[in-house]
Amino acid sequence: MPITYKTEQDAAGMRIAGQLASEVLDFLTPHVQVGVTTDQLDALAHDYIVNVQQAIPAPLNYAPGGYSPYPKSICTSVNHTICHGIPNDKALKKGDIINIDITVIKDGWHGDTSRMFMVGEASIAAKRLCAVTYDAMWKGIAMVKPGIRLGDIGHAIQTFAQGLGFSVVREFCGHGIGKGFHEDPQILHYGSPGTGEEIKAGMVFTIEPMINAGKRDIKEMPDGWTIVTKDHSLSAQWEHTVLVTPTGYEVLTLSTGSPAVPSFVSASA
Ligand code: MF3
Ligand code: CO
Ligand code: CO
Repeated sequence: MPITYKTEQDAAGMRIAGQLASEVLDFLTPHVQVGVTTDQLDALAHDYIVNVQQAIPAPLNYAPGGYSPYPKSICTSVNHTICHGIPNDKALKKGDIINIDITVIKDGWHGDTSRMFMVGEASIAAKRLCAVTYDAMWKGIAMVKPGIRLGDIGHAIQTFAQGLGFSVVREFCGHGIGKGFHEDPQILHYGSPGTGEEIKAGMVFTIEPMINAGKRDIKEMPDGWTIVTKDHSLSAQWEHTVLVTPTGYEVLTLSTGSPAVPSFVSASA
Protein backbone atom coordinates (compact mmCIF):
# COMPACT_ATOMS: atom_id res chain seq x y z
CA MET A 1 0.00 0.00 0.00
CA PRO A 2 1.29 3.47 -0.80
CA ILE A 3 2.01 6.17 1.77
CA THR A 4 -1.15 8.09 2.58
CA TYR A 5 -1.18 11.59 4.06
CA LYS A 6 -3.98 12.22 6.50
CA THR A 7 -6.13 15.33 6.55
CA GLU A 8 -7.22 16.85 9.87
CA GLN A 9 -10.51 15.00 9.43
CA ASP A 10 -8.70 11.71 8.83
CA ALA A 11 -6.57 12.36 11.92
CA ALA A 12 -9.73 12.84 13.98
CA GLY A 13 -10.90 9.38 12.91
CA MET A 14 -7.54 7.84 13.68
CA ARG A 15 -7.44 9.51 17.10
CA ILE A 16 -10.66 7.68 17.98
CA ALA A 17 -9.43 4.32 16.67
CA GLY A 18 -6.11 4.76 18.48
CA GLN A 19 -7.70 5.58 21.78
CA LEU A 20 -10.05 2.61 21.50
CA ALA A 21 -7.13 0.25 20.86
CA SER A 22 -5.36 1.56 23.96
CA GLU A 23 -8.55 1.24 25.99
CA VAL A 24 -8.73 -2.45 25.12
CA LEU A 25 -5.37 -2.84 26.86
CA ASP A 26 -6.69 -0.88 29.86
CA PHE A 27 -9.68 -3.21 29.97
CA LEU A 28 -7.51 -6.34 29.78
CA THR A 29 -4.97 -5.23 32.38
CA PRO A 30 -6.73 -6.55 35.51
CA HIS A 31 -7.28 -9.89 33.75
CA VAL A 32 -3.61 -10.53 33.04
CA GLN A 33 -3.07 -12.83 36.01
CA VAL A 34 -1.57 -16.19 36.90
CA GLY A 35 -3.89 -18.94 35.59
CA VAL A 36 -5.67 -17.01 32.85
CA THR A 37 -5.29 -18.44 29.37
CA THR A 38 -4.50 -16.30 26.37
CA ASP A 39 -7.68 -17.67 24.78
CA GLN A 40 -9.61 -16.12 27.66
CA LEU A 41 -7.87 -12.78 27.09
CA ASP A 42 -8.72 -13.06 23.39
CA ALA A 43 -12.39 -13.72 24.12
CA LEU A 44 -12.56 -10.82 26.59
CA ALA A 45 -10.94 -8.48 24.08
CA HIS A 46 -13.10 -9.68 21.20
CA ASP A 47 -16.33 -9.12 23.09
CA TYR A 48 -15.22 -5.73 24.41
CA ILE A 49 -14.19 -4.50 20.96
CA VAL A 50 -17.31 -5.79 19.22
CA ASN A 51 -19.99 -5.18 21.83
CA VAL A 52 -18.76 -2.21 23.87
CA GLN A 53 -16.65 -0.30 21.38
CA GLN A 54 -18.70 -1.34 18.36
CA ALA A 55 -15.45 -1.71 16.49
CA ILE A 56 -13.73 -4.52 14.59
CA PRO A 57 -10.75 -6.55 15.81
CA ALA A 58 -8.44 -6.13 12.80
CA PRO A 59 -6.36 -9.31 13.28
CA LEU A 60 -9.33 -11.70 13.05
CA ASN A 61 -9.09 -13.42 9.65
CA TYR A 62 -6.39 -10.97 8.57
CA ALA A 63 -4.60 -12.65 5.66
CA PRO A 64 -1.85 -10.61 4.03
CA GLY A 65 -0.23 -12.18 0.96
CA GLY A 66 1.27 -15.56 1.68
CA TYR A 67 -0.24 -15.88 5.17
CA SER A 68 -3.13 -18.07 6.27
CA PRO A 69 -5.98 -16.09 7.88
CA TYR A 70 -5.05 -15.08 11.44
CA PRO A 71 -7.43 -17.06 13.66
CA LYS A 72 -7.86 -14.75 16.67
CA SER A 73 -8.68 -11.15 17.59
CA ILE A 74 -5.45 -10.23 19.40
CA CYS A 75 -1.80 -11.27 19.46
CA THR A 76 -0.36 -12.65 22.71
CA SER A 77 3.40 -13.15 22.67
CA VAL A 78 4.72 -14.81 25.82
CA ASN A 79 8.38 -14.89 27.00
CA HIS A 80 10.57 -15.93 24.04
CA THR A 81 7.78 -15.25 21.54
CA ILE A 82 8.73 -12.10 19.66
CA CYS A 83 5.44 -11.27 17.96
CA HIS A 84 2.20 -12.63 16.43
CA GLY A 85 1.71 -15.22 19.16
CA ILE A 86 -1.70 -16.84 18.68
CA PRO A 87 -3.87 -17.07 21.81
CA ASN A 88 -4.24 -20.65 23.09
CA ASP A 89 -5.48 -22.67 26.05
CA LYS A 90 -2.25 -22.49 28.04
CA ALA A 91 -2.44 -20.64 31.36
CA LEU A 92 -0.08 -17.78 32.20
CA LYS A 93 2.43 -18.59 34.95
CA LYS A 94 4.02 -16.42 37.59
CA GLY A 95 7.00 -14.61 36.12
CA ASP A 96 5.81 -14.76 32.50
CA ILE A 97 6.10 -11.64 30.40
CA ILE A 98 3.52 -11.14 27.69
CA ASN A 99 3.02 -8.66 24.89
CA ILE A 100 -0.60 -8.03 24.05
CA ASP A 101 -1.05 -6.37 20.65
CA ILE A 102 -4.40 -4.81 19.81
CA THR A 103 -5.56 -3.41 16.50
CA VAL A 104 -9.10 -2.12 16.14
CA ILE A 105 -10.92 -0.68 13.15
CA LYS A 106 -13.42 2.09 13.88
CA ASP A 107 -15.23 3.91 11.07
CA GLY A 108 -12.68 2.42 8.68
CA TRP A 109 -9.62 3.70 10.59
CA HIS A 110 -7.06 1.45 12.28
CA GLY A 111 -5.47 1.98 15.69
CA ASP A 112 -2.57 -0.33 16.60
CA THR A 113 -0.84 -0.54 19.98
CA SER A 114 0.80 -3.06 22.26
CA ARG A 115 2.16 -3.20 25.80
CA MET A 116 4.16 -5.63 27.90
CA PHE A 117 2.63 -7.16 31.02
CA MET A 118 4.37 -9.04 33.78
CA VAL A 119 2.46 -11.90 35.39
CA GLY A 120 2.99 -11.61 39.12
CA GLU A 121 6.57 -10.74 39.97
CA ALA A 122 8.97 -11.12 37.02
CA SER A 123 12.73 -11.60 37.17
CA ILE A 124 15.00 -8.58 37.30
CA ALA A 125 16.21 -9.45 33.80
CA ALA A 126 12.65 -9.60 32.46
CA LYS A 127 11.70 -6.29 34.08
CA ARG A 128 14.80 -4.66 32.65
CA LEU A 129 14.05 -5.97 29.14
CA CYS A 130 10.50 -4.61 29.29
CA ALA A 131 11.69 -1.23 30.59
CA VAL A 132 14.49 -0.88 28.04
CA THR A 133 12.12 -1.81 25.20
CA TYR A 134 9.60 0.79 26.38
CA ASP A 135 12.30 3.44 26.42
CA ALA A 136 13.56 2.24 23.01
CA MET A 137 10.10 2.83 21.54
CA TRP A 138 10.05 6.33 23.01
CA LYS A 139 13.59 7.07 21.75
CA GLY A 140 12.16 6.46 18.28
CA ILE A 141 8.94 8.41 18.86
CA ALA A 142 10.85 11.40 20.23
CA MET A 143 12.72 11.75 16.90
CA VAL A 144 9.55 12.22 14.89
CA LYS A 145 9.04 15.55 13.12
CA PRO A 146 8.82 16.70 9.51
CA GLY A 147 12.19 16.74 7.74
CA ILE A 148 13.86 13.87 9.57
CA ARG A 149 14.37 10.59 7.76
CA LEU A 150 13.19 7.11 8.66
CA GLY A 151 16.78 6.03 9.29
CA ASP A 152 16.98 8.60 12.10
CA ILE A 153 14.20 6.76 13.96
CA GLY A 154 15.77 3.35 13.44
CA HIS A 155 19.18 4.59 14.47
CA ALA A 156 17.87 6.11 17.71
CA ILE A 157 16.22 2.82 18.67
CA GLN A 158 19.11 0.61 17.62
CA THR A 159 21.90 2.58 19.32
CA PHE A 160 19.90 2.83 22.54
CA ALA A 161 19.02 -0.88 22.74
CA GLN A 162 22.35 -2.23 21.55
CA GLY A 163 24.20 0.18 23.82
CA LEU A 164 22.55 -1.56 26.75
CA GLY A 165 23.47 -5.02 25.47
CA PHE A 166 20.16 -5.96 23.83
CA SER A 167 19.49 -6.87 20.19
CA VAL A 168 16.96 -5.52 17.71
CA VAL A 169 14.79 -7.83 15.58
CA ARG A 170 15.22 -6.95 11.87
CA GLU A 171 12.56 -9.01 10.12
CA PHE A 172 9.53 -7.13 11.47
CA CYS A 173 9.00 -3.41 11.53
CA GLY A 174 6.57 -0.59 12.15
CA HIS A 175 4.32 0.50 9.31
CA GLY A 176 2.15 3.22 7.91
CA ILE A 177 -1.45 2.80 9.00
CA GLY A 178 -4.81 4.34 8.16
CA LYS A 179 -7.68 2.79 6.23
CA GLY A 180 -5.16 -0.02 5.72
CA PHE A 181 -3.70 -2.09 8.54
CA HIS A 182 -0.19 -2.16 7.05
CA GLU A 183 0.55 0.73 4.72
CA ASP A 184 3.87 2.10 3.51
CA PRO A 185 6.35 3.15 4.66
CA GLN A 186 8.08 0.40 6.64
CA ILE A 187 9.50 1.77 9.87
CA LEU A 188 12.69 -0.18 10.56
CA HIS A 189 13.90 -0.23 14.14
CA TYR A 190 17.52 -0.02 13.04
CA GLY A 191 19.29 2.16 10.51
CA SER A 192 21.65 4.97 9.67
CA PRO A 193 21.02 8.67 10.33
CA GLY A 194 20.01 10.74 7.33
CA THR A 195 18.92 7.74 5.25
CA GLY A 196 15.51 6.58 4.08
CA GLU A 197 12.26 8.33 3.28
CA GLU A 198 11.75 11.87 4.56
CA ILE A 199 9.01 12.22 7.14
CA LYS A 200 6.23 14.67 6.33
CA ALA A 201 3.29 16.08 8.26
CA GLY A 202 0.15 13.98 7.87
CA MET A 203 1.96 10.64 7.85
CA VAL A 204 0.69 8.15 10.45
CA PHE A 205 2.79 5.14 11.33
CA THR A 206 3.55 2.75 14.13
CA ILE A 207 6.80 2.42 16.04
CA GLU A 208 6.98 -1.07 17.56
CA PRO A 209 10.48 -2.28 18.35
CA MET A 210 11.02 -5.93 19.18
CA ILE A 211 14.04 -6.24 21.46
CA ASN A 212 15.70 -9.50 22.49
CA ALA A 213 17.72 -10.22 25.61
CA GLY A 214 19.93 -12.57 23.55
CA LYS A 215 20.68 -12.68 19.84
CA ARG A 216 18.45 -11.01 17.25
CA ASP A 217 17.82 -14.15 15.19
CA ILE A 218 14.24 -15.33 14.78
CA LYS A 219 12.43 -18.57 14.03
CA GLU A 220 8.95 -18.97 12.57
CA MET A 221 6.74 -21.64 14.11
CA PRO A 222 4.81 -24.19 12.00
CA ASP A 223 1.53 -22.30 12.59
CA GLY A 224 2.82 -19.79 10.05
CA TRP A 225 2.40 -16.79 12.39
CA THR A 226 4.22 -17.18 15.71
CA ILE A 227 7.75 -15.76 15.71
CA VAL A 228 10.17 -16.77 18.48
CA THR A 229 13.79 -16.05 19.33
CA LYS A 230 16.07 -18.66 17.80
CA ASP A 231 18.13 -18.82 21.01
CA HIS A 232 14.98 -18.91 23.18
CA SER A 233 16.00 -15.71 24.95
CA LEU A 234 13.26 -13.38 26.21
CA SER A 235 11.82 -10.81 23.84
CA ALA A 236 9.77 -7.68 24.46
CA GLN A 237 7.81 -5.23 22.32
CA TRP A 238 5.85 -2.01 22.77
CA GLU A 239 3.88 -0.23 20.07
CA HIS A 240 2.27 3.14 19.53
CA THR A 241 0.59 4.71 16.49
CA VAL A 242 1.98 8.19 15.83
CA LEU A 243 0.72 11.12 13.71
CA VAL A 244 3.35 13.47 12.26
CA THR A 245 2.26 17.07 12.99
CA PRO A 246 3.71 20.26 11.47
CA THR A 247 5.99 20.65 14.52
CA GLY A 248 6.54 17.10 15.77
CA TYR A 249 4.25 14.23 16.60
CA GLU A 250 1.07 13.23 18.36
CA VAL A 251 0.77 9.74 19.86
CA LEU A 252 -2.70 8.49 18.91
CA THR A 253 -2.76 5.35 21.07
CA LEU A 254 -2.86 6.81 24.57
CA SER A 255 -5.48 6.24 27.24
CA THR A 256 -5.75 6.44 31.01
CA GLY A 257 -3.89 3.15 31.47
CA SER A 258 -0.92 4.06 29.29
CA PRO A 259 2.34 4.04 31.26
CA ALA A 260 3.98 7.42 31.87
CA VAL A 261 6.03 8.98 29.11
CA PRO A 262 9.75 8.65 29.98
CA SER A 263 11.37 11.75 31.46
CA PHE A 264 13.85 12.01 28.57
CA VAL A 265 10.97 12.90 26.22
CA SER A 266 10.56 16.67 26.04
CA ALA A 267 7.14 18.00 26.90
CA SER A 268 7.14 20.41 23.94
CA ALA A 269 6.42 17.81 21.25
N1 MF3 B 1 -0.65 -5.75 15.31
C1 MF3 B 1 0.46 -6.29 14.57
C2 MF3 B 1 1.31 -5.11 14.16
O1 MF3 B 1 1.67 -4.37 15.02
C3 MF3 B 1 0.05 -7.08 13.39
C4 MF3 B 1 -0.61 -8.32 13.75
S1 MF3 B 1 -1.11 -9.13 12.33
C5 MF3 B 1 -1.97 -10.42 12.99
O2 MF3 B 1 1.56 -4.81 13.03
F1 MF3 B 1 -2.64 -10.92 12.01
F2 MF3 B 1 -1.10 -11.26 13.53
F3 MF3 B 1 -2.78 -9.99 13.92
CO1 CO C 1 1.73 -2.52 14.09
CO1 CO D 1 0.33 -4.16 16.61
